[in-house]
Amino acid sequence: MKSTLDSSKKMESIKEKQVKSKQRVADHGEVFTSEREVNAMLDLVKQETERIDSRFLEPACGNGNFLVEVLHRKLDQVDKRYARSQGEWERYAIIAVSSIYGVDILEDNAQECRERLYRVFEQQYEQQFRNNCKDECKRSVRFLFKRNILWGDALDFTNPKTKEPIVFSEWSAVNGRLMKRRDYIFKFLVEKTHQFSLFNDQGDAAAIDEPVKDYPLIDYLKLGEDDK
Ligand SMILES: C[S@@+](CC[C@H](N)C(=O)[O-])C[C@H]1O[C@@H](n2cnc3c(N)ncnc32)[C@H](O)[C@@H]1O
Repeated sequence: MKSTLDSSKKMESIKEKQVKSKQRVADHGEVFTSEREVNAMLDLVKQETERIDSRFLEPACGNGNFLVEVLHRKLDQVDKRYARSQGEWERYAIIAVSSIYGVDILEDNAQECRERLYRVFEQQYEQQFRNNCKDECKRSVRFLFKRNILWGDALDFTNPKTKEPIVFSEWSAVNGRLMKRRDYIFKFLVEKTHQFSLFNDQGDAAAIDEPVKDYPLIDYLKLGEDDK
């Protein structure tokens, strides 16, 4: 009898985590994936989840069950390889963070996903470097999650409220401490249409694989420095 009660309690807590409300399930099909399933699925592409700079985009990311695990796996690699040098650890952790993307139609999910991802980073950073952690590094990571985890409708590629197109930033590490940011319109990346309906910074027609905005190189510890 006791074990039946224990297992039904356990099931209840799993259900609690997987469903926020019946209304949300009905409106948005929101049923979160359990940790065991997340890991089983990620194991199918294990090598990619352990490659620090492999790009992951989840177009219905919920509160981040998959992305959180991807970040854990990437940061474990950063720990293994770069724990001896704080500068190297920070650089590769930033590369790991900058390659994780998500979209969700519910604003609170996108927000929760960002916060969970940030906490994973912060916990691992503080575990490694305790009082030596840099505020600038934390700010850069917060900014990257703000830019990469977006509130949006992955079917019509817009923000549900403003109807502005979803714009993702591509981040590339350039020798040493520098990062390059290029912004792309999500819809054109996915549909590969409207080839010449975009215009680049110079006012010229831009091909779909051209960015809508190209930023100057920036030190990775200065990301988000001007963000309000
Ligand atoms: C089945 S849940 C999966 C969540 C997460 N991927 C997981 O496995 O835990 C589906 C998610 O898709 C989101 N969603 C539904 N329609 C969407 C749309 N058109 N664009 C983006 N997200 C959407 C819901 O808000 C919900 O968080």
